[in-house]
Amino acid sequence: MFLLGRGKSFKKFFPLSSLNKMTQKKEIYKCFVCGNIVEVLHNGAGELVCCGQPMRLMSPETQDGDQEKHVPVIQENEIIVGEKKHPMEKEHYIEWIEAESDQESSKKFLEPGEEPVYKPNFQVKKAQAYCNIHGLWATR
Ligand SMILES: [Fe+2]
Repeated sequence: MFLLGRGKSFKKFFPLSSLNKMTQKKEIYKCFVCGNIVEVLHNGAGELVCCGQPMRLMSPETQDGDQEKHVPVIQENEIIVGEKKHPMEKEHYIEWIEAESDQESSKKFLEPGEEPVYKPNFQVKKAQAYCNIHGLWATR
């Protein structure tokens, strides 16, 4: 109530349009003009903008149909991207794999020709992977 009573200054710093677009820690946003991808490390009230346009929140897919070549699989603390391993060709590959526990997260960045596999040194509870063509995927 105190802030609302100040009227203009509150609206200036927190316009109504931004109140519904708070960013949350760990969200991943992409610019569909230049391809820039960012991850939020701290919740904020502002809208993320790149190339003059709002960046789009990426929601990971968890099902890939019959092939299942994108959904990360955790086997004995090793993350493998796809029940059938995802291609790792120059034009189509997994750019990174992220591992997450209750308190830790880490990413392995990959290049074409490498295996789409990551074994971090902590107990993995969830995983995500990013395909340069098909986007973001996560364990179920
Ligand atoms: Fe793909």
